[in-house]
Amino acid sequence: MAAENWVRMVTAQTPTNIAVIKYWGKRDENLILPVNDSISVTLDPAHLCTTTTVAVSPSFDQDRMWLNGKEVSLSGARYQNCLREIRARACDVEDEEKGVKIAKKDWENLHVHIASYNNFPTAAGLASSAAGFACLVFSLAKLMNAKEDNSDLSAIARQGSGSACRSLFGGFVKWIMGKAKDGHDSLAVQLVDEKHWDELVIIIAVVSSRQKETSSTSGMRESVDTSLLLQHRAKEIVPKRIVRMEEALKTKDFGSFTELTCADSNQFHAVCLDTSPPIFYMNDTSHRLISCVEKWNRSEGTPQVAYTFDAGPNAVLIARNRKAAAQLMQKLLFYFPPNSDADLNNYVIGDKSILKDAG
Ligand code: ADP
Ligand code: DP6
Ligand code: CO
Repeated sequence: MAAENWVRMVTAQTPTNIAVIKYWGKRDENLILPVNDSISVTLDPAHLCTTTTVAVSPSFDQDRMWLNGKEVSLSGARYQNCLREIRARACDVEDEEKGVKIAKKDWENLHVHIASYNNFPTAAGLASSAAGFACLVFSLAKLMNAKEDNSDLSAIARQGSGSACRSLFGGFVKWIMGKAKDGHDSLAVQLVDEKHWDELVIIIAVVSSRQKETSSTSGMRESVDTSLLLQHRAKEIVPKRIVRMEEALKTKDFGSFTELTCADSNQFHAVCLDTSPPIFYMNDTSHRLISCVEKWNRSEGTPQVAYTFDAGPNAVLIARNRKAAAQLMQKLLFYFPPNSDADLNNYVIGDKSILKDAG
C-alpha cells in the first residue's frame, strides 16, 4: 500500500436526549448561548441514536459528509465551527495496527469524510440535532486523538446544536447557560448517572415522523424576537424550576418531577403560541395524549407518568416504574392503537431507558 493510501476510521454511537426543563432561545446565535439553563434525560441508544463514522486519508481532497446516505453540505457555520474547534485540539496519532502515524501539525492539511445515520426520524422533534452533533464531535475527537474530557467536548457540540451538549453524558444532564461572552462556561454537566433512578421507564409515542415545518433554530429565533412570555420564562420561571428539578432528581421525588416536567413542556408550547406568527408543534393527537395522562394521574392520586413534547408532536412519556409503564402501554394501545389513527404510527419503549455516556 502506498504511503498516501492509508485510511484511518473511527465509529461512535451517541444517544439522543429529551429536555425536561427546556432550552428555547439564544442570547448569541453564532456561539449558541442559551437564555436559560436546561435539564434533560439521555435516552437508550438501542432505540434512538446516531451512528457516525469519520475517516481521514491523505487521498481525500476536501471535507465531505453524508447524512442518512445523502451527501449534505458542510459549508454552514455550525459544521465549520465544530470542525475548526476539534482540529485545533488534534494531537499526534500512532495507529500501530495500520502503520499510520499522523503528527499534530499534519491535521491542518488532512481532510475528513463523515457518514452519519440516525436510527430514528430526522428533524421530527425527537432531537436528531442533539444526537447528531454530539456524535460528530465525539467521533472527530477520537479520530484526532483530542485529549479533552466530555464537558470540554460538550462546549464544542453546543456550537453544532445547543441540545447536543447534553448528549455527551448519560443519566440526567444540566446545560449550564454560563456567563462568559466567549461561551467557554456554557457547557453540560452530569447531575445523576444512569443508575441513579433506574426504575423509570421511558416510552416514546411517535405521533408523526414527518419533518417539522419550523426547525428548532428558526422557531426559537422567532420566539426570542416576539414573545414576552419567553422573557418572563427565562428570567423568572426557569431558574426556580431548575433548583426544584435538581432536588427532585436527587431525592427521586416522582411527584415533583412530574409536576415540573409537564408544566415546563406546556409552558414551552405556550411560548410557541405566544410567538408571532404562532408556531404549532403539537397536534390533536398530542393534546389527546396529554388529556389521557392528566386524567389518569388525577384518578390515581399520585402521578404515574410524566409527559414532555419537544419541538414536534411526538410524546415522551416517563413512567415511575415498570408497573406504571405496563399500565400506560395498555391504555395507549387501547386509546391510540398504532396505525389505526391517521397520525400515530409507532411506539418505542426504552426498557432500561437511561444509559451511559457517549461512546
Ligand atoms: P430535531 O428536533 O430532530 O433536533 P432540528 O430542527 O433541531 O430537529 O435539527 C434538525 C437538523 O439537525 C437536520 O436538518 C440536520 O441539519 C441536523 N442533524 C440531524 N441529524 C444529524 C446527524 N446525524 N449529524 C449531523 N447533523 C444532523
Ligand atoms: C425544544 O438544540 O435543536 O428540543 O441549538 O438551534 O440547534 P439549535 O436548537 P435545538 O433546540 C432544542 C429545543 C428543544 C428543547 C431542548 O432540547 O432543550
Ligand atoms: Co434539535
